[in-house]
Amino acid sequence: MKYDIKITKTATPKAKPVDESKLGFGRVFTDHMFMMNWSDKKGWYDGRIVPFGDIPIHPASTVLHYGAEIFEGMKAYRTVKDEIVMFRPTENIKRLNNSAERLCLPALDEEGCLDILKTLVELEKDWVPHADGTALYLRPYLIGNDPHLGVHAVHEALFVVICSPVGAYYAEGINPVKIAIESQDVRAVRGGTGYAKCGGNYAASLRAGQRAENAGYTQVLWLDGVDRKYIEEVGSMNVMFKIDGKIVTPALTGSVLPGITRKSCVELLKDWGYQVEERLFSVDELFDAAKNGKLEEAWGTGTAAVISPIGKLFYQGNEYVVSNNEIGALTQKLYDNLTGIQWGKLPDDKGWIEFVCKG
Ligand code: COI
Repeated sequence: MKYDIKITKTATPKAKPVDESKLGFGRVFTDHMFMMNWSDKKGWYDGRIVPFGDIPIHPASTVLHYGAEIFEGMKAYRTVKDEIVMFRPTENIKRLNNSAERLCLPALDEEGCLDILKTLVELEKDWVPHADGTALYLRPYLIGNDPHLGVHAVHEALFVVICSPVGAYYAEGINPVKIAIESQDVRAVRGGTGYAKCGGNYAASLRAGQRAENAGYTQVLWLDGVDRKYIEEVGSMNVMFKIDGKIVTPALTGSVLPGITRKSCVELLKDWGYQVEERLFSVDELFDAAKNGKLEEAWGTGTAAVISPIGKLFYQGNEYVVSNNEIGALTQKLYDNLTGIQWGKLPDDKGWIEFVCKG
């Protein structure tokens, strides 16, 4: 079921970034955005693409007081054949609806949401950057928007999609990042919202992230909130380790985000004949492997992070260097294959690519 979308084009289009090597992440926004309201009386209504700009919001809005917010991160790519495509967008829509269910926000029709995303991307196609390693990042988000202060599931909501031409998420680019394993704060607990992509998870991560940055690390790696010993995720990415030829990645226990890049890597790795263990994986086991010379590679996976090699791991006063602080061969192969499919350099044997329009 498609939603009606009224399009109002901007009268003052902005200049596109000239030097795409300096895009960074999430600082530049395109000319238009999508908005659609929901109420429990009317359902979804007033779907519209409007010039990019501020959103008027009631000072008592639920999102401002109780954090009723979920979001997604996805990308549109300009392929080598100058087509604009997206990567597994329906997976993001399904996850958005799972997150919505957890926060008592309204679900979107899958076909209708895909149509919204494609319509917006097609309108903004000239904003999809050309340089290697770049893409148009889409940030769909859904907020509870009741104009009063009672704590309850919302009666009104707003769905918004903004677009940002991006380069690498980390300043390191494809060079290894330095990760500090967090032993004080926790990000999520089972039964909580860890598997949902909600703003609150990220708010809870800021203090540890700031401590790690001040100590010279790129981000933190979270341990589980109950035993404080099982590796979970980085927050901006899931993690994988190559240990003695096998791949180990934390199981989706409920407090880990079910990453779409994670899922795609697991599929590729299995296709290539690797044994992939999705299981509880303790920090002790990780460092035993490191000490015994069996930790061969470590990397993160995410839409924004793509495939990001981990070169250093810090935990309780000790720093371990992984893979000589260089990108490992398998990490590079994953990066090349995944981005190869996304940029149309490699065949899309798995049907992961959604055609949007000619470039
Ligand atoms: C993504 O990879 O799209 C994310 O949402 C991670 C981060 C930028 C919050």
